[in-house]
Formats: sequence, C-alpha cells, structure tokens
Amino acid sequence: MTAAHKTQNILIFGATGLIGRHITNAILDNAASFAGRIAIFTSSNTLWTKSDEIDALKARGVEIIGGDITSADAVNEAYTGFDTVVSCVGRPVIQNQLLLIQLAERHPDVKRFFPSEYGTDIDYDASSASEKPHQQKLKVRAALARVSKLQYTYVVTGPYGDGDSVLYLAASGPENEARGTFDVKRKRAVLLGDGNGRISLTTMRDVGKLVVAALQHPEEARNRALRVNSFTATPKEILAEFERQTGGQPWSVAFTSLAQLEELEREAWAKSDPKAGGLTLRRIWTSGRTLYDARDNGLIGMEDGVETLESAVRQAIKVQTEVEDEE
Ligand SMILES: NC(=O)c1ccc[n+]([C@@H]2O[C@H](COP(=O)([O-])OP(=O)(O)OC[C@H]3O[C@@H](n4cnc5c(N)ncnc54)[C@H](OP(=O)(O)O)[C@@H]3O)[C@@H](O)[C@H]2O)c1
Repeated sequence: MTAAHKTQNILIFGATGLIGRHITNAILDNAASFAGRIAIFTSSNTLWTKSDEIDALKARGVEIIGGDITSADAVNEAYTGFDTVVSCVGRPVIQNQLLLIQLAERHPDVKRFFPSEYGTDIDYDASSASEKPHQQKLKVRAALARVSKLQYTYVVTGPYGDGDSVLYLAASGPENEARGTFDVKRKRAVLLGDGNGRISLTTMRDVGKLVVAALQHPEEARNRALRVNSFTATPKEILAEFERQTGGQPWSVAFTSLAQLEELEREAWAKSDPKAGGLTLRRIWTSGRTLYDARDNGLIGMEDGVETLESAVRQAIKVQTEVEDEE
C-alpha cells in the first residue's frame, strides 16, 4: 500500500453552500498548516449571484476557478496542481461527483478526495442500503471503492446541531412543528420520539474543524468513514438547556412519536412532498442511528475541542433571534 498522502494544495467544490462555507472558512483559518494553494471551483451563476462572498474569499488568498462541474475539460484543467479535492456539493448534484472521481483517479496531481457527506451515516446498518435519501451518496461510495490510486475519506457527522432553517435546533413554525421544533420565539418544543432517545449532533462550525483535522491526519483518515460528532443528548436534555438559557421557565411541549413520524414520512413520499427526505432522515436519527460505541474524534485529535450542548444551544438562540429581528 502506498503511503498516506499529506495534503498541500486544496481545491474545494461547493465552497459557498450551507456547509461549504464552514468547511472553507475552517480550511482558511488553518491555511498555514497546508503550506500550499487553496482554490474553489464554482459555477458562473455563483460568481455572479454571490460576488461579495467571492470577493471576500479572494481577499483571503483563495484562487477562484469558474466553470461547469459537468465539463470534463474544465474539471481536468482545474485539478492541475491540486493534490486534495474537498467536495461540499449539495444534494441535487451529488451524482455529479461520479465524474469528479473518475477524473481525479486519472489525473496525475490529485491524490486525496473527500466526497460530500457531512451528514447521516449511509452505512450504519443493513437498513441503510434501502433508505431513499442515501442512494446517490451510496453510488459515490461505490465509485470510490473501485479506485486504486485515489485516497478518500467520508466525514460522517450526523445531523447539524444548529438553529438555522430546517436544522435540528431550528424553529419549524407552527404548521411544520410535527417534524420537531425548538422554537425560541414561541417557547415551544415538539420533541421527536419519547424525548428520551439519545442523538449525536455536530455543529456546522465543528464540521469545518473536523474536516480540517481529517485533512491533517492523512494516515488515520485514509480510505474510511470517520464517524465524528460534537455531543450526544436526548431531546429532553436539549429542551432543558433551551429553557435554562431563555429565562428558566418551562416551554410548552408536545411529542411526535416514532410511529407518528413514520406516518408523516409515508404521507410525504406518497405525495412527492419535497420534505419527505428530511422526514426520513429525522426518523433515522430518532431511531438511534447516530449512536456508536465509540466515536472517531480521537483518531484525528478531536476528542476535545468540539462544542457542547450548552454552546450549540447558545448559538442556536442567537441565530433564531437574529432571524426574528430581520422579520
Ligand atoms: N447533517 C445535516 O444536517 C446536513 C444538512 C444539510 C446538508 N448536509 C449535507 O451537506 C452536503 C452539502 O449540502 P449543502 O446543503 O451545504 O449544499 P447546498 O448549500 O445546497 O449546495 C452547495 C453547493 O453545491 C452546488 N449546487 C447545489 N445545487 C446545485 C444545482 N442544482 N446545480 C448546480 N450546483 C449546485 C453549488 O455550488 P457552486 O455554486 O459552487 O456551483 C452550491 O453552492 C450534502 O452532502 C448534504 O447531504 C447535511
């Protein structure tokens, strides 16, 4: 087996997306440890619609490569000089990574590839293979299982422990609260399951730090899934922390049992509701499939230094309150 490749020059896809921003920011915060070039490959649409963000990245020394992710020529040219590719592309374009992998495997410069994972474990147990939201990512893993030169890492973080729209610590709004909510404005929670089932969450800031740690530990991260997280808590413990940080009074509370969640999920898939995939993921999380005997943080030097329930809830309150102020 060849030695693990030490990352120097990094090319990021999807850098301005929800999680891509955090990953790119963390890479830039640690740029000195890579001692090479950092670039993003992005669409002309993003160059146009997010020009301020692109300018801010340029100001931090990032090279900007505009192009079409489906063009083999554009991607091949972009790969030149980069040994590590970090993909953070969104769900609609997960399958486009099949081309990125094929080209990376053949390109003389590219040695490491991080596909867009950063979420639910798509290989938790036998049931994972048939879960609808996992299908595209499973194809990407199958493609990486066939490469011979390329080294790869799947950073598996579970659900995000943040208060931004649709994430686990978000306010869902009265009409959608059955999917689970921690609504700071209304002091209202709907807990999933019986409220006592543990769930492991990772804040988006920690996803960025954990990807950097994986980049910095090529031997430990090589050709495997890293199952990492920030903290583990029950929905009732999360609620208690929200109550403590919002004045100590009890919130109004309801529950969506696992059976009710399954029913909502079935109905959503039956009518092709775009929320169906999210409900499937919440059912998977609520049935304990974010839990492990041991997490992999320690392998990449991140047993400590990740966020706690307290800091995640503090940030979620801030995010929800800022949204409230903008309304
Ligand atoms: N654990 C969780 O709770 C959680 C939550 C959300 C997402 N995730 C995971 O995180 C990863 C990234 O998701 P995200 O939500 O951060 O992605 P996103 O913001 O939807 O998109 C990221 C980037 O992908 C490209 N892209 C997205 N949709 C596209 C389209 N229709 N056509 C062309 N390009 C498109 C764009 O890059 P350019 O503009 O540069 O072309 C975009 O900035 C996914 O694997 C997702 O499953 C996990």
